[in-house]
Amino acid sequence: MKIVITGAKGQLGSELVEQALHAGLEVQAYSSQALDITQDLTLDLSGVDALINCAAYTAVDQAEDAPEKAFAVNATGVKNLAILCKKYQVPLIHLSTDYVFDGTKKGAYFETDPPNPQNVYGASKLKGEQLLQATWEKHIILRVSWVFGRFGNNFVKTILRLSQERPQLKIVSDQIGSPTAAQHISQLILTLLRHPKLQSNWGIYHYTDAPLTNWCDFAKNFVNPKQCEITPIKTAEYLTKAKRPQNSALNCSKINHVFGIKQMEWKTALK
Ligand SMILES: NC(=O)c1ccc[n+]([C@@H]2O[C@H](COP(=O)([O-])OP(=O)(O)OC[C@H]3O[C@@H](n4cnc5c(N)ncnc54)[C@H](OP(=O)(O)O)[C@@H]3O)[C@@H](O)[C@H]2O)c1
Repeated sequence: MKIVITGAKGQLGSELVEQALHAGLEVQAYSSQALDITQDLTLDLSGVDALINCAAYTAVDQAEDAPEKAFAVNATGVKNLAILCKKYQVPLIHLSTDYVFDGTKKGAYFETDPPNPQNVYGASKLKGEQLLQATWEKHIILRVSWVFGRFGNNFVKTILRLSQERPQLKIVSDQIGSPTAAQHISQLILTLLRHPKLQSNWGIYHYTDAPLTNWCDFAKNFVNPKQCEITPIKTAEYLTKAKRPQNSALNCSKINHVFGIKQMEWKTALK
């Protein structure tokens, strides 16, 4: 199997490239320097079995001041890829986010729940979903949340670093969600690519690791309490440019029902 991966030097892209090569796939991996998805794409996809788009503008707070940058990558860039994939009849696996929802629902969000993003990043990701849906039928939109992994930047690495620098950290405890390992997302993408039911089940799917937690409790799983004391605070006490959803819980029963993919535990990947 031959696949193309965009955004290949990001947190998820790096992990996916490594796992795909390890699984014996033929991989064409493009960093943002090698392939800028906002530009005219002249890539030849002949003989390619799938394109996985890990490229995104993910600076959630910066996006509030640079909406045109976020929309260029997360919306126009996705449309560019969709047009290219359609030209070559290549399925497009695309990543999206819990931030398409406003977080006011009681209980976990289904794929059919109406999105209502609360920040520019979420709005740009939603636009990307919509452009993909309108452009190329053979797509999977995989909404994930709170991604962490070995590569790139993430909450785990930031908090670990800060916990070595400071005796106390205040961390938000009233946002609910599921940390999700890049390792597990990559694993499930490789499962999807080989799945006999893929060709008849395009669409949006939610996947997160389990169980649900909040940022503060999550941090307690990897910060040494002897080194740094963690205190819970409310979102209102930690002001950020972009508003975050209070409830980021994604219901993952559809991906289980259709493809037999079960939620994995984030704890197993934390090490
Ligand atoms: N991180 C999370 O917590 C989270 C949560 C939910 C959903 N997601 C989604 O999961 C996916 C993967 O996220 P991630 O955490 O791996 O993000 P990431 O680490 O920020 O990686 C994104 C990659 O995209 C590249 N990129 C940016 N602009 C590009 C362009 N114009 N053309 C080509 N590549 C470009 C970046 O390259 P440069 O660094 O060179 O700009 C970076 O390598 C994204 O779709 C994201 O929206 C992430």
